[in-house]
Amino acid sequence: MSQTSGGAAPPTQGDPTAPVFPGLFPMTSEVDASGRLRVGGIDVIDLAERFGTPLFVYDEAHLRARCRDAVEAWGDGVAYATKAFLCVAMARLANEEGMYLDVSTGGELHVALLAGVPADRLVLHGNNKSDEELAAALAVGVGRIVIDSFDEIDRIERLLSDPLRFDQTPSAASGRPTLPQRPKVLARITPGVEVHTHEFVRTGQDDSKFGFGLASGAAVRAVDRLSELARHGVVEFVGIHAHLGSQVFALAPFVKAIEVLAGFFAPLGLPELVVGGGLGVPYVNGEEAPPMAQWASSVRLACRNAGIADSVRVTAEPGRAIVASAAITLYRVGTVKDVPGHRTYVSVDGGMSDNPRPVLYGSGYEAFLPREAGAARPVPIRVVGKHCETGDVLVSEAYVPEDLAVGDILATPVTGAYGHSMASNYNKVPRPAVLFVANGEARTVVRRETFDDLVRLDL
Ligand code: LLP
Repeated sequence: MSQTSGGAAPPTQGDPTAPVFPGLFPMTSEVDASGRLRVGGIDVIDLAERFGTPLFVYDEAHLRARCRDAVEAWGDGVAYATKAFLCVAMARLANEEGMYLDVSTGGELHVALLAGVPADRLVLHGNNKSDEELAAALAVGVGRIVIDSFDEIDRIERLLSDPLRFDQTPSAASGRPTLPQRPKVLARITPGVEVHTHEFVRTGQDDSKFGFGLASGAAVRAVDRLSELARHGVVEFVGIHAHLGSQVFALAPFVKAIEVLAGFFAPLGLPELVVGGGLGVPYVNGEEAPPMAQWASSVRLACRNAGIADSVRVTAEPGRAIVASAAITLYRVGTVKDVPGHRTYVSVDGGMSDNPRPVLYGSGYEAFLPREAGAARPVPIRVVGKHCETGDVLVSEAYVPEDLAVGDILATPVTGAYGHSMASNYNKVPRPAVLFVANGEARTVVRRETFDDLVRLDL
């Protein structure tokens, strides 16, 4: 099967009982002669037997291919948004494939550094960076800091001039970190462009906690202050950043954002412009999203049309588009309950703790049985988890083959983004293991939590 991230119309559009569209499976997926799904050259049911369930299975070749797509489409500077899925192995992989990494908290920064990612290839985000987070980023010399508020400008100015925080002498005699080189900073601007996605993941509109609003005049004032700091040699002010939202299928809002930003950005003569992340991915049969290359070329064309110089480094920070369809989650079916006149509930051994997206955003997923991955799915069911609340739904309207039974491995595709990264221990359910599979081999990159892990912080 080949991975399509957009392109040709899926053949199954409109019929929910049709087999899962192959484009939703990870890139190296294949269905063997007996109908079972293999990813990375391994039978996924065997993986469930060996490693237990629930289990995140990532196709390593798929992850690498998507990173390469991003680098090819956007060029140097394109950053992987680690919030979508982060562990040491993922940070290493994205770095090996030439991506920068976007980190938005001290924790994400810590993981990226631990993975050996050079600090100058990190971009620090966040609407409320603490003194500690900023100081850590400055001390290691992160590549870029995206400034989000006036308080943050004050904070950076204060930190950089604090002799107690950073040794200001060339010899570093105090043992404190030496005064870092002038950090490269970008200003995050909210351009006032709305995208048609869930309101919780919209960020480019005027009414937002992120960035400096263009309409309110905050953007102009922020740029004035950063230019002033740059004149005094405190920071190097390199660019403007705007992120519109997430799971965006249309390219028009990105073009619109460039049009809106251009008049503000071009006269500043800054060398960098970042359009954030947000490229959507198909989750269910019938959905389509533009490929990475088309996203990049539309943005570039919009920049040219809007009079932004070709010399400007225009980049992005995709998260979901890199990792979402690289993974499937394997669950084991525990109970099948027919509620006459209503529906059939199929309960699996995970739930909102490993994938909170259906509960949070009403997100849709497909469900299938890897033992007959290409089979028709005539039976409507609801896939639910094992948590103690009615809202614990994984797939509200799923369709499965007739012979689904207790003990089956049931899988949901396209779970590589914002599943593991938003997982919780609700009901003291240990978080699943994460595997990378490639060339017939599986390696555990995050081990399954144990019951002991659940009390490791208790005193
Ligand atoms: N850059 C910035 C500044 C962001 O805030 C985000 C995502 C990204 C890049 C990456 O966006 P992506 O390419 O992944 O769409 N938990 C939600 C998504 C939240 C996105 C937050 N920011 C979900 O599960 O749909």
